[in-house]
Amino acid sequence: MRVSNFLLLLLPVFARSSALDCTEVPGSLKQIDASNGQVFGVNSTGSIFTLYGNTFVEVPGSLKHVTVGPAGVWGANNNIYKLVGGTWQQVSGALKQIDAGGDQFVVGANAIDDIYCLHSSSTISVKEQSSLPWVNIAGKLKYYSCGLRGCWGVNSGDYIYFRHNVTPESCAGSRWQQIDGRLSMIEAGTDGSVYGVSSAGEIFRRDGITNSNPVGTTWTRILHYICKCKHVSYDLGLLWIIYSEGKIMKCQV
Ligand SMILES: *[C@@H]1O[C@H](CO)[C@@H](O)[C@H](O)[C@H]1NC(C)=O
Repeated sequence: MRVSNFLLLLLPVFARSSALDCTEVPGSLKQIDASNGQVFGVNSTGSIFTLYGNTFVEVPGSLKHVTVGPAGVWGANNNIYKLVGGTWQQVSGALKQIDAGGDQFVVGANAIDDIYCLHSSSTISVKEQSSLPWVNIAGKLKYYSCGLRGCWGVNSGDYIYFRHNVTPESCAGSRWQQIDGRLSMIEAGTDGSVYGVSSAGEIFRRDGITNSNPVGTTWTRILHYICKCKHVSYDLGLLWIIYSEGKIMKCQV
């Protein structure tokens, strides 16, 4: 049963698009984040995993959302934690979603979709019970992610927004610009790429992103034959996809 489902899903990918090279990675996750070769994820009951070689191994602790990036490894389960020397140090604040993909700054959203960021100067020397100067950003988002060329978010209606003029030391930025399309989650990569998943489970890539036009130009739907995707993260030429029932797929793009 499981084997035949797996083949049905993957065969069309191989058959119809020679450019794609997708393989399933053993495990089950709800959320995944990749940056600079590191991959972290959580499963639906809060267990935390990191990729070691080609295997997800469990990391102690319990989180709803985990992130890895230039600011380190951070996690949220309403409480906020940073992984320091192999242990989770709880810091001040409350978030349901967190992202460390910006240039040493951290962003996230809380339970009522309020948006926060932490300047790069405050993400480095974090200790247990550090009181951190989280900055509230005007607006409401359920998911907010930063990468090399800016910060992207989606709100409860799946509308997409780009934040202008975000810098590591002025992480609040200046204004929102609504971008065409609807996505239920969005991830900006450490290399500047932007990928998202629609509520129907389709994966989109933002094209046309440059330094002078960080909002890009168009959404391109990719991997047409993989259905019901839930979560995506891109790093170093690899797209990590969570699809039906938490299965994990790694695609070369
Ligand atoms: C999450 O991972 C833990 C540790 O491996 C496991 O015991 C638990 O069953 C997993 N949860 C789900 C829903 O698979």
